[in-house]
Amino acid sequence: MTFSFALYGGLAQGITAGKLSEIHRLSFQDSAEQVWTPAEISSLLLNPDTRAMTIRQDAQAIGFLMWRQAREEGEILTLCILPAFRAQGMASRILQEFYLLAKKAKVEEIFLEVREDNVPAIGLYEKNAFRIVGRRKNYYGDKDALIMKYIMK
Ligand SMILES: CC(C)(COP(=O)(O)OP(=O)(O)OC[C@H]1O[C@@H](n2cnc3c(N)ncnc32)[C@H](O)[C@@H]1OP(=O)(O)O)[C@@H](O)C(=O)NCCC(=O)NCCS
Repeated sequence: MTFSFALYGGLAQGITAGKLSEIHRLSFQDSAEQVWTPAEISSLLLNPDTRAMTIRQDAQAIGFLMWRQAREEGEILTLCILPAFRAQGMASRILQEFYLLAKKAKVEEIFLEVREDNVPAIGLYEKNAFRIVGRRKNYYGDKDALIMKYIMK
């Protein structure tokens, strides 16, 4: 089994916004979070500061990470892995690959927001050296958002 990563920005080549939206929908199907439509993904990627990285198993894209950069600050907008490919270290792999890329891009700190009840995601980020630095009360309706931060090594 081989793994690879591919990077997309602007008008994504090699993958469609429809495919990314499908991965997003399937990944968030059991969650209360909003699924991004192809149009929303296209519009995000048209911003030159926003990019997406897929993780592929053999030829199939099984998840992706989308982020934006403002000078030395990065923000993870979403990270998702298809349900059938979870609990195999895929999210940690793509996160570690992202750290390498962010370092090359001179990012110093990475932030993200996560629902306070998203146990798998909080576990993933803590395992990969993110720390909780704040909380937005009722950001997701009746649930808070935790603000997490990673300082580049
Ligand atoms: C969160 C998500 C990306 C994790 O993907 P994954 O490939 O299964 O994660 P990994 O296998 O790399 O797991 C890495 C670590 O995360 C934590 N983790 C992952 N799944 C977990 C679960 N169900 N319960 C508790 N901790 C979990 C563990 O610390 C794990 O390390 P371990 O295997 O040594 O215990 C995946 O569950 C997902 O796509 N969820 C829906 C989308 C989402 O919520 N995204 C994050 C918000 S933007």
